[in-house]
Amino acid sequence: MRRVSRVYGSVTALDDVSVEIEADSAVALMGQSGAGKSTLLHLVGGMDVPDTGEVLIDGTPLPRRRLDRHRRRVGFVFQRFHLLSALSTLDNVLAPVLPYRVEFDRGARARELLEAVGLDGRERALPGELSGGEQQRVAIARALVTGPSLILADEPTGNLDARTGLEVMAILQELNDDGNTIVLVTHEQDIASYCGRIVSFQDGMVVGDVPCESPKRARETLAGLASEVTA
Ligand SMILES: Nc1ncnc2c1ncn2[C@@H]1O[C@H](COP(=O)(O)OP(=O)(O)OP(=O)(O)O)[C@@H](O)[C@H]1O
Ligand SMILES: [Mg+2]
Repeated sequence: MRRVSRVYGSVTALDDVSVEIEADSAVALMGQSGAGKSTLLHLVGGMDVPDTGEVLIDGTPLPRRRLDRHRRRVGFVFQRFHLLSALSTLDNVLAPVLPYRVEFDRGARARELLEAVGLDGRERALPGELSGGEQQRVAIARALVTGPSLILADEPTGNLDARTGLEVMAILQELNDDGNTIVLVTHEQDIASYCGRIVSFQDGMVVGDVPCESPKRARETLAGLASEVTA
């Protein structure tokens, strides 16, 4: 984004922010509460528009009339999962594509994604019958159903214990390995250290931007935890 500001009444949520995120990268956004992290995600995802400045995708400014189309190329994962409690796991994953004509078999795609996040066999379960980590994995499958190349995750591990959070990070890292761009907001330094870059915000401004040459691998950390338990 180039020189983006977003103002809510007397609050400047983002103050002349320019930040470039490379395709295929995994970036963590950090900063205290109210720093503007969610605001930035919403602008990048086309859920909100800047007051000044512009959001560019592949170098091209994102016009308002294209927001709808852009949103379908983006997968969102939220801290509070936001699953529909009356719908089965399978139907939750399908929900984003129900209003649209698509050229793939929706049911088959949803089952494939549930399998990819380790939830095969749970298609009929309701969200209330799943653990927090399982619900977040459903939410990730749902975010992927439109086949996005950009995944925006706002504190995806914020409601999960450390181990379950790592499992979610392992899935996000695999998606990144497969060529998806990941932008993730987190309050946890440890979670951020699984990303290739950490951008820090304060009062709507970027105050830090640090690359991480060799990010930690969530799969390896999990394997290490498992071997500790057996030992
Ligand atoms: N829709 C809105 N209306 C009014 N003010 C808003 C709105 N959304 C955000 N703000 C304000 O903008 C500022 C930035 O909010 P934002 O949600 O981006 O922060 P954040 O960094 O995501 O914080 P947190 O870590 O608590 O999620 C805050 O002061 C917030 O109160
Ligand atoms: Mg936020």
